[in-house]
Amino acid sequence: MKKLSESLIFSGINPSSSKGLHLGNYFGAGKQHVEMQEKAKRAMYFIADYHSLNTVYDPKQVRSNVYNTYLDYLSFGLEPEKKNVIFFVESAIPEICELNIILNNVVSMAELSKMHAYKDKIQKKEASESINHGLFNYPVLMAADILIFNGEVVPVGEDQVQHVEIARDIARHFNARYGETLVQPQVLLQKEAARVVGTDGERKMSKSLGNDISVFNDDEIIRKQIFGIKTDPARIHPTDPGNPDKNVIFTYMKLMDYDDTKRKGFEQRYKEGKVGDVEIKESFYKFYLEYFKEIRDRRKKYGADPEKVKVLMEKNNNEAREIARETMKKVKKYYPEVMRALEDSEVIIVEDTVSNFSTGFIITYAIQRRKPVLVLWTEDKKKYFKQNFLEGVKNENVEIEKYTQKNLKEKIRTFLNKYDHHQGKHRFNLIIDNVERKYLDWARYNKRKSRTSIIRGAIRKSLNSDLEYKRYLAKEPKI
Ligand code: TRP
Repeated sequence: MKKLSESLIFSGINPSSSKGLHLGNYFGAGKQHVEMQEKAKRAMYFIADYHSLNTVYDPKQVRSNVYNTYLDYLSFGLEPEKKNVIFFVESAIPEICELNIILNNVVSMAELSKMHAYKDKIQKKEASESINHGLFNYPVLMAADILIFNGEVVPVGEDQVQHVEIARDIARHFNARYGETLVQPQVLLQKEAARVVGTDGERKMSKSLGNDISVFNDDEIIRKQIFGIKTDPARIHPTDPGNPDKNVIFTYMKLMDYDDTKRKGFEQRYKEGKVGDVEIKESFYKFYLEYFKEIRDRRKKYGADPEKVKVLMEKNNNEAREIARETMKKVKKYYPEVMRALEDSEVIIVEDTVSNFSTGFIITYAIQRRKPVLVLWTEDKKKYFKQNFLEGVKNENVEIEKYTQKNLKEKIRTFLNKYDHHQGKHRFNLIIDNVERKYLDWARYNKRKSRTSIIRGAIRKSLNSDLEYKRYLAKEPKI
């Protein structure tokens, strides 16, 4: 795992709840997000409103959720004014959708079908007509989010781990096909308190189950929620001995660093039947408001100044969009230049020093298009390529040859003559690195009328340096 202090951490917040965030949201995600903006080199967070369309259908609701969740997270302590922090809104970045479309072709139905959220529905025998494609596509959209911003470390809860792993696979496949372009993200599992139990003492805290304690609601509502905490059911009167393990209020106290001695005192008296629930809850309620005072005050301050929030949001959206555009440039530039050259040529020659993987990609491509390909390496790579890219594939048009500077021309000549002879065609592409000059001399000498593109180390290098790429494109010979 890459060190946090050297990484870009990246995570999204699905604004699917309209009712304001609660204790579980804070300890499950918000608190860590805030802490990580200090620890990481850079941090990017966003409101994943495209994702929320999967469950929220009312446009007005979507808009107000985005705004409120943005405010809630600002209040938790995200500081997008800081140089190393960007906090934006997904739908302000249309490039994400564009990348999603491209990535759709790098992932199989089979892989997506393994996704838990989808499998659950299938297992519950939900009619396939009622499962929308947004759910199936969810991990691909999430991959587009992460990959377009070069997210390196992605802190998420357990339920999202699989999605990040799919994103990682997608990046890997993309790079294998088109060359090193996208950063492969790593998951950072947020174990710590990821599952805050609700006030029923049983299920995960959730607004929809009504077992939550709000962070931002009015005091009175919070008081009610706290007084609704389920305590040891065996204890009917304050004088009955109780079991503190059956009273989730003690769990919250631990979670929130409530004074240890005081808590232990309460627990002791609880066991002995010497304290009423009201006394404990009253004390916890006061503590709770105090604990969240700063956060709640901030919420009021931002809430009173929507203009300021809007400006902040827009500024962050713009910053994020710049990054997304840069990535799309890489993603797109790569495809047309290299692929066009490959598409153009009827015969392909790959020469040493293009990486193994890129060569493998070209071999695979050539097989699919039934184009003859000659792979030249200074080492004997026959076995390697056969094993990795040609296993079980029958293709007599793939030739893998070891060459020396001396016999290079001869190898190329033999190969070309074979196809010239068979097909009477002269077009070919040469993907070549360090023997370019020699080859050109030879081609001129033979008065070939072929159109030759020299994609000099393109597969390997083009993404690293714009300049370099332009240089060798400029060099494309006309012979
Ligand atoms: N799916 C995440 C959730 O429901 C939110 C999300 C969307 C996300 N895109 C992301 C998280 C990218 C991390 C990275 O919680």
